[in-house]
Amino acid sequence: MIEGSEILLVDDNPEIIEILGDFFALNGCHVHKAYTGNQALETLGKKDIEVVILDVNLPDVNGITLLDTIKVNTPSVAVIMATGYYDPNFVVDAMKKGASDFLVKPFELDKLMLVMMRVLRERKLVMEKENILSSLEDKKKIEMLNRELQRKIKELTTMYHISNKFNSLSIFDDVYEKMITMVKEILDVRSCGYYIVDSDNRELILYKGLAGDGDVIDEPKVFMAEEFFNDAQTLKKHVIKDNKIFLPLIIKNECIGFIMADCRNGATNGHLMESNVFFLKLVADKASTQIENKMLYESLFESVIHTLKSLIVAINKRDLYTEGHCKRVTEMSMVLAEKIGLADYERDVIRVVGPIHDLGKIGIPDAILLKPGKLTDEEYALMKGHSMYGEQIMNRFEILAKEARIIRHHHERYDGRGYPDALHGNEIPVCSRVLAVCDTYDAMATNRPYRNAIVIREILDEIERCKGSQFDPDIADSFIDILKGGGYDNKH
Ligand SMILES: [Fe+2]
Repeated sequence: MIEGSEILLVDDNPEIIEILGDFFALNGCHVHKAYTGNQALETLGKKDIEVVILDVNLPDVNGITLLDTIKVNTPSVAVIMATGYYDPNFVVDAMKKGASDFLVKPFELDKLMLVMMRVLRERKLVMEKENILSSLEDKKKIEMLNRELQRKIKELTTMYHISNKFNSLSIFDDVYEKMITMVKEILDVRSCGYYIVDSDNRELILYKGLAGDGDVIDEPKVFMAEEFFNDAQTLKKHVIKDNKIFLPLIIKNECIGFIMADCRNGATNGHLMESNVFFLKLVADKASTQIENKMLYESLFESVIHTLKSLIVAINKRDLYTEGHCKRVTEMSMVLAEKIGLADYERDVIRVVGPIHDLGKIGIPDAILLKPGKLTDEEYALMKGHSMYGEQIMNRFEILAKEARIIRHHHERYDGRGYPDALHGNEIPVCSRVLAVCDTYDAMATNRPYRNAIVIREILDEIERCKGSQFDPDIADSFIDILKGGGYDNKH
C-alpha cells in the first residue's frame, strides 16, 4: 500500500528518525533523512520525494516557514506536520499553508500508517487530476500549434504557387492578365483588377478586371483623392478604400499602376487583411520582375530586329523587288494568320519574320539574284540556299531562335518536296506554311523582269491546284476565301 514510496523524515531528534525510518523501511518505503531544514531542502532538490514528515521545531528554521517553502518549490510533495503538543491555531495555520495532516508525538505507528496511506492516496488523486488538466492544456496547445502550422503550410503553399506560376511565364504571356488571375485564385475576392494611373484627372482606369462570380467588373474608373496618389506613389504603400485594397505596382521605383482586390474576408478582420496585403505584395513583386524582364527583352529584341532590317535595306538596294515583296507578304500573312485563328504570339512572330524572311538573299551573288531570265539548275540550287543563310544570320541572336526556324522552312512544301529539309505537312511550322502561300501569291501577282504579273483568276486556280501538294490545304482554302472576298484588298 505504501510500498515503494519515497519518504523524507525531517526531525532534529535522531531517535525519532531511527524509529520512523525502521518502520517505513520495513513497510518497503525508500526512506530519506534530514536533521535540519536546510538538509531537508537539499534532499528535496535532489530526490523525487512523495511525502515529508516534518517536525515543527528544527534548529535552523521554523517548521511552518519550511512547509511554506516546500509547497512553493515542490507543490506536489505531501507534508505531514509533527509536533510535541496540540495547538488548534497552529494546526489551522499549517493546513492553510498546505499541510496534508497533523500528528502529535509520540506517534502511534498504526495511526501513522493510516495517515500515510490516506495522504499517499490523496496525493495520487491530485497528481492524476493535474495530469489530466495538464494533458488538456497540452491538447489545447497542440491544437493551437496545429492551426498555426496549417496556416503556415497554406501560406507557404500559396507563396510557392505564386512564385512557380510567375517563374514559368514565357516572355509572350500577358503578365497583367496572369497577375489578376492569380489574385482571384489565391484570395477570396468579390472582384479584382489592374488599374492604370491617370494622375491628371486623379483617376484609376481599369486595364484588366475579374469579378469573383465571373461577371464583368463594374467600376471601369475610380476617382481618388490627391492624398491617395501622394501616399501610393511617394510612399509606395498600399491604400484601403471602401474595404478594397489598392496596391501600387512598382517598376524601376515608379508606380505604374495598382492591383485592386475587393476581399470578402478582410473587411473587418485585421489579421486577414494583413495576410491579403502580404500575398498581394508577393504577386506585385513577382509581376514587376517579369514586366522588367519583358521590357529588357523587348528593347533587346527591337535593337536586333533593327539591325536585321538594316541588312534588308542592303538587299533592297540591290534588288528593288525584295522590299515591296517583303512588305506585301507580311501584310497578307497577318490577314491570313488572323483568318486561320493563329495565337497572338504566332502573329507576333509573323510580324517580325515577314519583313526579313528573305534576309538570306544577302548571301546570293548579284548575277543570280538580279538575273532577268530563268535560273539554271546550278544557280537555282545556290538561290535555294537563302532560307538557310537567313536562319544562320538569325541564329547569331539567341533570342530569335523561333523566328530563325520559320525562315529556314518558308520554302518547304506540304507534300515534303520543298527545301531545305523536305519536311511534310504539320512538321513545317505553321507560320512558315502561312508565309509560303503569301510568298508564292505575291511572286505570281507581281511583274518580274522575265514575265508579267499573272491575273488573279489564274492565281486562284494555281493555288487551288497546289492545295495539299505545295500548300497546307486548310491555309490555302482560307487564303482563297480572303482573295475571293476581296478581304486582302479591302483591308489594304
Ligand atoms: Fe524566300
